[in-house]
Amino acid sequence: MNKALRKAVIAGNWKMNKTPCEARELLEAIKPLVQNAKCDVVACVPFVDLQTALDATAGSNIGIGAENCHWEASGAYTGEISAPMLKAMSVPYVIIGHSERRTYFGETDVTVNKRVRAALDNGLTVILCVGEYLEQREQGITGEVVALQTKIALQGVSADELKRVIIAYEPVWAIGTGKTATAEQANEVCALIRSTVAGLYSWAAANALTIQYGGSMNAQNAAELLDQPDVDGGLIGGASLKPADFAEIVKAASR
Ligand code: PGA
Repeated sequence: MNKALRKAVIAGNWKMNKTPCEARELLEAIKPLVQNAKCDVVACVPFVDLQTALDATAGSNIGIGAENCHWEASGAYTGEISAPMLKAMSVPYVIIGHSERRTYFGETDVTVNKRVRAALDNGLTVILCVGEYLEQREQGITGEVVALQTKIALQGVSADELKRVIIAYEPVWAIGTGKTATAEQANEVCALIRSTVAGLYSWAAANALTIQYGGSMNAQNAAELLDQPDVDGGLIGGASLKPADFAEIVKAASR
């Protein structure tokens, strides 16, 4: 019943793939396949592809997102992109705190929180990623890890701003490995994130929050995962680069 309150969101995370020319081709292939979607459809693309992606999807039902942004508006931060820059380009979405950023680029819960706040201050919708490592799951501390990540990331975020936050639960051991969490495991942690958010804000806010699952979601397993009561969508890596597979997932979320 609560699920009816929330719009499903299927977002592609292209990671470090596709040149601008290839991005245009991929989006042209995806566009007709998802045009009748009853869920929100998003493609998060490398910074250099953003303008091409915005142009290619203008007037369509595909929203475009970046894959990160810095917390400062400008300054001596070589290699970074700021939230006002994304805003100036009319980019509506941004992924923050992806486990690859945390693992390979030293991002912490504290810097994730700063980035979330900068993105929200600039009118962006944030796809905030949380998730445990395999060792943490094996130690039985998944709940604590994910609750802590969620609480720190949302520090200083108002209830009103929370309406522009999507949380993606991505168990690190399931990302790009072909090892998907079972539907029950995915739902259990998504439900825990929702109750954590209820504790920080209210159940009304938590019940309106879209929570995605991410980690080897594909055309075959999407329907079962999306059928879970607390799974409201997906953050899709590998399968988002294959138009037919991505469209199948969008279809599963549109039922
Ligand atoms: P995957 O990636 O679907 O390739 O596992 C998901 C993600 O990292 O967002």
